[in-house]
Amino acid sequence: MAYYDKKYCIVTYGCQMNIHESEKLGGILAEMGFTAVNDVKLADIVVFNTCCIRENAEKRAEGNIGALKKLKHAKSDMIIAVGGCMTQQKGYAEKLTDKFPFVDIVFGTHNLEDFKDFIVRRLEDKKHVISVSDGDNRIKEGTPKLRSSFPNGWVNVNYGCNNFCSYCIVPYVRGREKSRDMGAILSECQELVDAGYKEITLLGQNVNSYGKDLGNADFADLIEKVSAIEGDFRLRFMTNHPKDLSEKLIAAVAKSDKTCKSIHLPVQAGSNRILKLMNRHYTREDYLKEVELLRKYMPDIAISTDIMVGFPTETESDFEDTLDLVRQVKFAGAFTFVYSPRKGTPAATMDGQIPSEISKRRIIRLIDMQNAENRRQSKAYLNRTIEILCEGFDSRKGKYLGRDTYGRMAYFDGKTNLIGKFVKVKITKTGGISLMGEVADIGE
Ligand code: SAH
Ligand code: SF4
Ligand code: F3S
Repeated sequence: MAYYDKKYCIVTYGCQMNIHESEKLGGILAEMGFTAVNDVKLADIVVFNTCCIRENAEKRAEGNIGALKKLKHAKSDMIIAVGGCMTQQKGYAEKLTDKFPFVDIVFGTHNLEDFKDFIVRRLEDKKHVISVSDGDNRIKEGTPKLRSSFPNGWVNVNYGCNNFCSYCIVPYVRGREKSRDMGAILSECQELVDAGYKEITLLGQNVNSYGKDLGNADFADLIEKVSAIEGDFRLRFMTNHPKDLSEKLIAAVAKSDKTCKSIHLPVQAGSNRILKLMNRHYTREDYLKEVELLRKYMPDIAISTDIMVGFPTETESDFEDTLDLVRQVKFAGAFTFVYSPRKGTPAATMDGQIPSEISKRRIIRLIDMQNAENRRQSKAYLNRTIEILCEGFDSRKGKYLGRDTYGRMAYFDGKTNLIGKFVKVKITKTGGISLMGEVADIGE
């Protein structure tokens, strides 16, 4: 058919979940015969895979959708599709089509697998397609994927979230937690290893609750089973929830040679009062105990986190509690955010919203503290030779890059293509969070 020679461009916002879902959208389009391009201006089909975790994520997406108006005007047969978390918000599809009437397809997070039908309908019936559903409990297997993260392969283990942290939109736009069948996960991992992938990242909003709805397995069992796949690869997983992290899982990670000795364990805040208001179901003492347990099993484990400042009613002393926790834990890295009210979540209507000047001052102090820690940890790498999985080439820096088992990023020169190889790199320079080095040995 004529449309098989069309070009498409997918613009992705948000988390790893969305990055992986864009690989599925790419898989569907590639299977239909379309070709990927990197520039929206060259594309006949532009797909926005959106995020609404914070207001600025939405603003960025809306700005970029709006910017296509002129292009669409000049090229009327161009198709613009918008999907992802933003469109899944109550009433948002109507708002979007009012604001951007030139958008052709609006779809949600629960019906991404039907994307082929939406494109065909748009091409054949020439009608706008607006299809956002609430989703059901089934997981659709077999969606094609055009992977873009070699040598890392993303693998979904569970979808959705049941936690309803009081600030968070994810449970509303991704639906209830659903675990994927273990057999399906294991065969996808096996396929990746067979295809030469060197790193597998198991994905879920809260991987620690994997299997709760299946009843016959948990995440620790899954780690053990994936680790038993033969081959030269690393295993990572994200994200963890402190209320569900078990000693059984910590022991399984410690025992598995393939599992990287790093964990992302979002703490969000260091004040018990704020943690309670956030509906996180743990205290700072619980969190610190987990850190201790992780380090008992794996003294060198790298612990990274997410932290939010400016949650409603956060006082200076609550914020000091967060700084104090950061000081105590010595995180290997932290993603820091200013709280952003999300419509429909309980926190958005709480009294005591914090003025942005105060939040901004707080986040600067937090970032400064974490940066100093990053520098301190990086410095310890100087003159050491470490094993890096080369993940890509940074054309701006003109260097290859990759991470060690702790997730620390290093840049280095290479004369041959090193992507997908485990290389020994001698660290010669350290800066902020990343390292610079020279290749000492190239593995297989
Ligand atoms: N499921 C994961 C990640 C969810 S989103 C988890 O629970 O850890 C990633 C991060 O975004 C969260 O950890 C949180 O720090 C931040 N975040 C979520 N909602 C936010 C909001 N309304 N404002 C600011 N940051 C937010
Ligand atoms: Fe959001 Fe909390 Fe679920 Fe994470 S665990 S996705 S922060 S509701
Ligand atoms: Fe954003 Fe949706 Fe992920 S809201 S952070 S893309 S789950």
